[in-house]
Amino acid sequence: MNDFIFHNPDKVYFGTNQLGHLSEELLKFGKKVLLVYGGGSIKKNGLYDSIVTIAKNSGIELFELSGVEPNPRHSTVNKGAAICKKENISVVLAAGGGSTIDCAKGIAAAALTENGDVWPLVSGGVWVTKALPVVAILTNAATGSEMDAWAVISNMDTNEKIGLGGSALIPRVAFENPEYSYTLPPFQTACGAFDIFNHVLDNYYLAGEASFDLLLEMQEAVMRTVVKWAPVAMNEPENYEARANLMWASSMALNSILDGGTVHGCACHAMEHELSAYYDITHGHGLAIVTPRWLTYILDETTASAIYRLGTQVFDVPKGLNEFEGAKKAIAALSDFCFGTLGLLPTLTDLSIDETHFKAMAEHACISGSITGPKVLTPSDVEAIYKMCL
Ligand code: NZQ
Ligand code: ZN
Repeated sequence: MNDFIFHNPDKVYFGTNQLGHLSEELLKFGKKVLLVYGGGSIKKNGLYDSIVTIAKNSGIELFELSGVEPNPRHSTVNKGAAICKKENISVVLAAGGGSTIDCAKGIAAAALTENGDVWPLVSGGVWVTKALPVVAILTNAATGSEMDAWAVISNMDTNEKIGLGGSALIPRVAFENPEYSYTLPPFQTACGAFDIFNHVLDNYYLAGEASFDLLLEMQEAVMRTVVKWAPVAMNEPENYEARANLMWASSMALNSILDGGTVHGCACHAMEHELSAYYDITHGHGLAIVTPRWLTYILDETTASAIYRLGTQVFDVPKGLNEFEGAKKAIAALSDFCFGTLGLLPTLTDLSIDETHFKAMAEHACISGSITGPKVLTPSDVEAIYKMCL
């Protein structure tokens, strides 16, 4: 186990009756609140009306930025930052999924820069230590943005999708009411679920010699939770237990608890972000297509036992097999989960993606020369994995 510092100052209100605390939390930062939301799901599930009523009853002045896109654009972030500057906003309130929360984080950071442009922060890899406070109300169990220090922002002019990180981007408060996710369609539920799964898996093997049992067991518990509850939530959208387990799994997967003491890696995420940067696909779906191919590509005598362990601990692969045979069964079980249970289309060809941009995408995915992980991947490895996804 390596040394680590754990510090996550996010205060989480989890459950059905917590929104009553919203005004007291917002007013700690001031009265002028920028509400950020997406294409209208919060109007359909009643969350928007609740926020407006709470604001009205507590003297909060609400400003709005709506229309945040899935894969949020830097241009939308900049619109929000301009409102913050003009109206002297004291706190940014995100209500939605990861895209909305990420956009709010970008706004919070850009609002404190001189020209209000988020892109130089994103493309320059700036670690943000100064930002307006962000409060998040989560409606989609997926990205972990509600409890992490990252915002993923897209620039469609340059086909770039890049993570902006910083201690100041961790939401000060998050509200997680599983009932707000009842309205998620099965496809989004599936994509969110696989995103959670992959946040753990991308990090699972990297503990290596520094691993310790508690961490592995906790990582496996989160992956098992996704495998158990995602199909229930897809079939019974208003099953509270299913939505609650997925929502807390979303936060647990990326709030730093599960990577304390490991060497953090994100091979599948690095490869997927290129796919959504070029083709604007749903993040969790891209991950589901890439992940089994990545495992197949990296399977050798150094990785077989870890992949086999995934099969026995998270899926129903029996113990006692030869390691290679077990690892292949684990990959088959994972594929079956993605394309059978979750019902996601299995290839890039299904999403009308061909190899036109694979070379450029592979090079950009390896922007620092290679991708770290249980196997270091070079651009030609990444290109080969993309081709396996066709
Ligand atoms: O825009 P609205 O109308 O809200 O609809 C959204 C959107 O169409 C809808 N939705 C969300 N909650 C709903 C709902 N529909 C019905 N009922 C609800 N309760 O779902 C669609 C997708 O929403 P989005 O926010 O894009 O999904 P998600 O939460 O999966 O976020 C994806 C974004 O987060 C980034 C991804 O790359 C992608 O840009 N990520 C952010 C991370 C982070 N901040 O740490 C890490 C992740 O790995 C990821 O990269
Ligand atoms: Zn993700």
